[in-house]
Amino acid sequence: MDWGMKNRLSKIIKPKDGRTVMLAVDHGYFMGPTSGLEQLDSMVNPLLPYTDTLMLTRGALRNYITPTVDIPIVLRVSGGTSIIGKELLHEGTVVSIEDAIRLNASGVAYSILVGAEFERDTILGITQYIDEAERYGIPVLAVTAVGKEMKRDARYMSLASRIAAELGAHIVKTYFVSEFEKVIESCPVPVVIAGGKKQPEDEALKMAYDAIHAGAIGVDMGRNIFQSSDPISMIKAVNAIVHKNATPKEAFEIFKGKKK
Ligand code: 5RP
Repeated sequence: MDWGMKNRLSKIIKPKDGRTVMLAVDHGYFMGPTSGLEQLDSMVNPLLPYTDTLMLTRGALRNYITPTVDIPIVLRVSGGTSIIGKELLHEGTVVSIEDAIRLNASGVAYSILVGAEFERDTILGITQYIDEAERYGIPVLAVTAVGKEMKRDARYMSLASRIAAELGAHIVKTYFVSEFEKVIESCPVPVVIAGGKKQPEDEALKMAYDAIHAGAIGVDMGRNIFQSSDPISMIKAVNAIVHKNATPKEAFEIFKGKKK
């Protein structure tokens, strides 16, 4: 792995503890004006002090985030479907590696949909993108999205995560499931968890805690932060779990503003 790739990975995954709090606000590429992100800049800017890495689309980056921002970017580079289309997440490349470099991305994110009838398109898509990204030392985060019909269990997440890693992804983002340690044990690259649909803050914090303690290196969380009743307190609480080994109870106290 060349110096550049290692340096970019160290911006995404913090060397001090090998962990990361990635704020995912890339939802607009298939959800449009997602609830909570209607004015993406006013939502995101106050969260940045507690964020290690920002995951978003090139359009969001160019239109909502100032170029003077001091935060590593993981750029969403796959897409092609919408929530009202027939084949959600039947994705392909929507951002060239040259544009990702021009936007000074520290990494790129590409979704695969293992088990879908169009899985081959997404798997070949990420593989070709990994080849291009490797040429420039840009790490690829594989997003193992989960289609409606896919069973969310350790067997599925292990399959999807391991396929992504075998094809060359540098980081895998998947969903927390019971027996998550099995997913971690069978994936040779770092794993972060998506937050998934909005759930009560204490449950989301417990999920983050359990994922970290099963071996995930952090989170790439979106809706459970920006759709929270108090996004700033929520990302502070998530940050405490990821970087300060806070318990779910301690983190929930932080969320409620009772604990520094
Ligand atoms: C959607 C994505 C999102 O970045 C990912 O799902 C994380 O966001 P959330 O925590 O809201 O699930 O890649 O395909």
